[in-house]
Amino acid sequence: MSDVFILNTGQTPPEGTRKPPRQPRWTDTFAYIANPDQFCRHNLNRYGSIFSTGVFGGTTIFVGSAPAVQMALNGDLHYTEIGLPTTTMTMFGEHSLFQRPDLHRQRKQALRSGLAGQAIQGYIPKINTVIGQRLQEWPTQGKIALFPAIEQICFDVLVPLLLGIELEDAYFQGLPIGSKTSLKQCYKTFFDGFYGLLPWKSPLTAFGRGLQARAMLIAFMQAVIRRRRAETQLDPSSDFLAMMLVSQQAEPDGVFTNDLVENQCLLQLWASHYEISGLVSSWMYQVGRHPQFLAELRAEQATVIQDASLSTSLASDSLKAMTLLEATVKETLRTLPPTSTANRRLTQSVVLDGVLYEKGCTLIAEPRIAHILPEHFAHPEVFEPARFLDGGEIDKYAYIPFGGGVHACLGAQLAMVVSKIFASHLLQEFDWQIEETTQFVQFPLKKIKNNYRIAIARGRL
Ligand code: HEM
Repeated sequence: MSDVFILNTGQTPPEGTRKPPRQPRWTDTFAYIANPDQFCRHNLNRYGSIFSTGVFGGTTIFVGSAPAVQMALNGDLHYTEIGLPTTTMTMFGEHSLFQRPDLHRQRKQALRSGLAGQAIQGYIPKINTVIGQRLQEWPTQGKIALFPAIEQICFDVLVPLLLGIELEDAYFQGLPIGSKTSLKQCYKTFFDGFYGLLPWKSPLTAFGRGLQARAMLIAFMQAVIRRRRAETQLDPSSDFLAMMLVSQQAEPDGVFTNDLVENQCLLQLWASHYEISGLVSSWMYQVGRHPQFLAELRAEQATVIQDASLSTSLASDSLKAMTLLEATVKETLRTLPPTSTANRRLTQSVVLDGVLYEKGCTLIAEPRIAHILPEHFAHPEVFEPARFLDGGEIDKYAYIPFGGGVHACLGAQLAMVVSKIFASHLLQEFDWQIEETTQFVQFPLKKIKNNYRIAIARGRL
């Protein structure tokens, strides 16, 4: 990357340095939230891949070119800090990874052991079984509401994986949230509270209701943790919570404080459940709109899984061998990125490639811009999975559905594994048709609208 030149306080920028184009406008926040895709495309066409806005107040600079994204994502403890809106930070809570930059690396490292590598290998049979069982409940032929149908299954996969609990009503007896349905509803209210623009802690605002839901969810997590601690033998490889509790028992003064454990349970389930559901439903939509890939994908499934019985466990080697499937998932993430990266606030002014990024401004590295730059992706408007097959060299700062640098998504590997297993089942068990285009909820996460239905049939249509 080009050198990032960090200015000392009061230092004059080198001659010829220019500010990013465009003046911030007070309407920018509304325009961005109403339709981030349109906002990004419009300004990209007019001003290029780096431009100033007034999104979330102050000056917020959107960046899309790989060097600028790299600069934005690697400034932690040098020239940036996380700079999300206050309401969002409050929803994340004081024990989230974002709140303590000094402890971030250590905490992230400790959490990684429950969300990557060996841990995921152990989760694969469970993910496979639940998805297989739950898909039996889909109709043999008919229409389904795409996002809700997938979300329901993702929830059932992820709750046991992350919390190690059962989802039958009997398990919820004596817990502060009395059923799976109420737990899901509580998460929805929590979700809606993110980016609530009115910062009033009142039941009349989405933010206020979100905070109430957060408190309920934390009480729920505390009760679940008590129950899990009472188990005679906790197996750290069985689920994410067990991993944290075993580490805590081994090292009571270590990374895993009670607050951290509770909050990670809350946030991991939040992130994984909505983001993965969004990704799988967008994948089904994109592949359905580009049926030329369906035949190839099915041929790949047939080759990789010799045994057609999906009740047998799906080995991680088989998943690795599904390269075309992986490429379609990655191309879905490129064309329909679920979210931008977290905002970074500049704690020092920096200069990169002759552009001045002033102290106090916020940076947003936007996949909605980066992923459609022709210098990063030829014919960016075309759904072309081949760009992710062998030989396709993609700059890691040009492709940022999971962010990058210090705060890169901790669940990227889990998200890919769950999505690939889900997609593999769908390819083998169902055919589907996309008859009309859908609209997306755009913010805070991009996802297909709940009322969008598609025709499916078991076997081939
Ligand atoms: C399709 C699925 C997902 C997408 C698109 C996604 C995307 C992202 C993005 C864009 C970031 C911000 C990165 C940045 O600001 O640089 C992030 C951070 C994070 N994600 Fe994900 N995510 C997904 C799934 C998950 C899952 C399944 C988990 C955990 C179970 C997870 C846990 C996290 C955590 C803990 C962070 C904060 C990391 C840090 O601050 O160091 N995500 N994710």
